[in-house]
Amino acid sequence: NAMLQWQFTGFHFQPEKNWMNDPNGPVYYRGWYHLFYQYNPEGAVWGNIAWGHAVSRDLVHWRHLPLALVPDRWYDVNGVWTGSATVLPDGSLVMLYTGSTNASVQVQCLALPADPDDSLLRNWTKHDANPVLLPPPRIGHRDFRDPTTAWFDESDRTWRTVIGSKDNRGHAGIALVYKTKDFVRYDLIPGLLHRVDGTGMWECIDFYPVGDKEELHVMKASMDDDRHDYYALGKYDAKANTWTPIDPEADVGLGLRYDWGKFYASKTFYDPAKKRRVLWGWVGETDSERADVAKGWASLQSLPRTVALDDKTRTNLLQWPVEEVETLRMNSTSFSGITIDHGSVFPLSLRRATQLDIEATFRLSPSAVAALTEADVTYNCSTSGGAAHRGALGPFGLLLLATPNPGEQTAAYFYVTRGTDGELRTHFCHDESRSSKANDIVKRVVGSTVPVLDGEGLSMRVLVDHSIVESFVMGGRSTVTSRVYPTEAIYAKAGVFIFNNATAGAVTVEKLVVHEMDRSYNQAFMDDDTT
Ligand code: FRU
Repeated sequence: NAMLQWQFTGFHFQPEKNWMNDPNGPVYYRGWYHLFYQYNPEGAVWGNIAWGHAVSRDLVHWRHLPLALVPDRWYDVNGVWTGSATVLPDGSLVMLYTGSTNASVQVQCLALPADPDDSLLRNWTKHDANPVLLPPPRIGHRDFRDPTTAWFDESDRTWRTVIGSKDNRGHAGIALVYKTKDFVRYDLIPGLLHRVDGTGMWECIDFYPVGDKEELHVMKASMDDDRHDYYALGKYDAKANTWTPIDPEADVGLGLRYDWGKFYASKTFYDPAKKRRVLWGWVGETDSERADVAKGWASLQSLPRTVALDDKTRTNLLQWPVEEVETLRMNSTSFSGITIDHGSVFPLSLRRATQLDIEATFRLSPSAVAALTEADVTYNCSTSGGAAHRGALGPFGLLLLATPNPGEQTAAYFYVTRGTDGELRTHFCHDESRSSKANDIVKRVVGSTVPVLDGEGLSMRVLVDHSIVESFVMGGRSTVTSRVYPTEAIYAKAGVFIFNNATAGAVTVEKLVVHEMDRSYNQAFMDDDTT
């Protein structure tokens, strides 16, 4: 079926077939980037979870390798679940992962490279002492999973790892910290690194320093309750074994999300080669399981993103596609300098619009901004009518994977309102409601407000890749990812439009550059020159 075939992406990471979920143990080892991932070798739905494995020199072109870990022991026979890599000071590598036992108890396990000199890390040894860690007293046997990358604590010369769980009292998400000298024996450190009532089970915790002086720590948890990745910035007190958010109202699970669309179970790693922190996130399907089975695969990974503290706001992170993504840019067309009157749509003339990297900066006419005096504090991407709902200063932006009216389109747009304090509030949303004429698809309007400082234009970078639209807003202060399944807006029929559906005010397109993107030609493993 050509329509289903079309959904396979050109430059996102995905296995050739079958089900994938969380990124696991991302790491840079002896010149190679490694990505492991939750994988079902037997079909396009979740189950039989093993670790898939691929390697890359540049985070863009991937070579698929044989399975790294399979569920073959009593302690992981129900699944080799999510885990993390830690590189020790001598350059050696340890892998911690969650095993789901024959009784479905969640236990932590240790795996080591069978041959540390194999830079492709093709063979792994499960440690004889496995499982190395069992759920502690008062923790549910099915609420104890996804160990983080460990860090070294100089004060007592031990390694620390965080494991997510939940406390039924208060339906609280909690973060437990263990210390270990050898990754075989562990001690639970009394107290909790953090806890937030009402947020439920915390999956896939990530915990890492940010800022020039590493003065802040990010705590991220994947909320099993609502399936979003939430983070907060805070202060880590190693001695007290606590982490405290700088803004308690924006605590983990209450405030910031990595991404306002489809993005979950993400994980970062530190890349020593380019001195940066890189984030991977699982982007699942929003079509039906039936469709996934028909096409034979399910899920993508997001583009790998650098993450860093936003030095200008210091209230949020910045996420940006790794620079290597730009090596895939081919033909670039600039449409800068256009002005789009309110209530109009403007088609871009492009050769191909299925694999794109678009950079756009918009400016509202100052007179229209000045004329907006009325406050609107109720606007919310998800509940305010999407791209069809007209306001004074929005929506305006881009229609992707689009055919002309009344066709298919995924709208990526800004919507500006005024708060009761008189300040402007800028929203960025994706409207998926017209993204496909198929009816087995979850279509939503998603997004959030995004900080805009004095004098800044409204900028978005949007990556389109067949069935995914990934937007980075205001330099990465916010991101929104959508899976979309056009039935008509495919191949040569897919187009891009600029639109301005505001009722007042023209929008000037200060910058609009559209790059066609090459395929990344990810390859199945071949026994050739990879070492
Ligand atoms: C998150 C998650 C993890 C678990 C894994 C199982 O998506 O549920 O908590 O380890 O997936 O595949």
